[in-house]
Amino acid sequence: MAYFYGMTSIKTIGLMTSGGDVPGLNAAIRAVVRTASFYNISVMGIERGYEGLIDGDFKVMHAGTVSHIIDKGGTILKSSRSERFTTPDGRKVAYQQLQQAGIDALILIGGDGSMRGAQKIADESNIPVIGIPKTIDNDLTGTDRAIGFDTAINTAMQAIDKIKDTAQSHNRLFFVEVMGRHAGFIALEAGMATGSEAIIIPESKNDLEMLYMNLEQKKDWENSSHIVIVAEGDESGGAYKLAEEVKRKWPDLNTGVTVLGHIQRGGSPTAADRNLATRLGIHAVKALMNGEKNIMVGEVSGKIAFTPLSEVQNRSLAMDHETFEMMKILTR
Ligand code: F6P
Repeated sequence: MAYFYGMTSIKTIGLMTSGGDVPGLNAAIRAVVRTASFYNISVMGIERGYEGLIDGDFKVMHAGTVSHIIDKGGTILKSSRSERFTTPDGRKVAYQQLQQAGIDALILIGGDGSMRGAQKIADESNIPVIGIPKTIDNDLTGTDRAIGFDTAINTAMQAIDKIKDTAQSHNRLFFVEVMGRHAGFIALEAGMATGSEAIIIPESKNDLEMLYMNLEQKKDWENSSHIVIVAEGDESGGAYKLAEEVKRKWPDLNTGVTVLGHIQRGGSPTAADRNLATRLGIHAVKALMNGEKNIMVGEVSGKIAFTPLSEVQNRSLAMDHETFEMMKILTR
């Protein structure tokens, strides 16, 4: 990819994080601020995502502002899910705030909802917008991995490994619920990494049947992992409901439930997340300098990839036949 630096007319980039926090946001913020500063472009941090944009909650950022944050979870810019930005009145105020602050381009680190907001800005204003994908659910097209996913699956894996100790010592079948509002990516990857008994995800319709069949046939519990991973968005209603249903069918079975919840969203990012965030942050600034606008910067097959914001969609595992075949083999 060729860039022609020094020809940019952009003087001030507005930078914000929006939607649920993920580990790696600070690494992305750092990369954007340091890259912009390297090329003498100012950065205005927008606090609390779209909410802060409407309220004009802006602060000047420079290379020193982002020292010692690469290893920290959360976001120094704070984040929010904004209702107000979905209204034309809210957006009108936001555009006025950008103009008053002299912000002539925006970099927005967010998930699917935030990218839809970014598309609105692209449609309704003349401010060039670049999106950087983050979501622990990893359910965005245009990038193989979104920032935060790798840390989330590693956090889930470490927690499940610990639960396995009790599960195996007590011959107890644990239902472990992982995050994933509409998607089973975390469940699948954490389930594979922990050698789980079954992986129950919203994208599969026969995963429950497979689990019941396995439980019916199970004679030798010594060889079981004793762990069933349940994605929170699964149609079974989550780990508690599924455990109840299993207990109803097999009353003698010793069962337990753990919901991992927000521990999957916090903590120090893995090296993979820090470095992905850093690469995407650098390329977001360079893309703006090169005149690109209204795109999301992702990474596909190890290479930086630009996707028009209008084409960014929710990604589903449902079309991934290879994955389902793999699950069948591993959870038999
Ligand atoms: O989209 C990321 C995610 O962590 C989902 O997995 C989860 O359903 C949701 O956010 C939880 O959101 P909140 O923190 O607002 O409860």
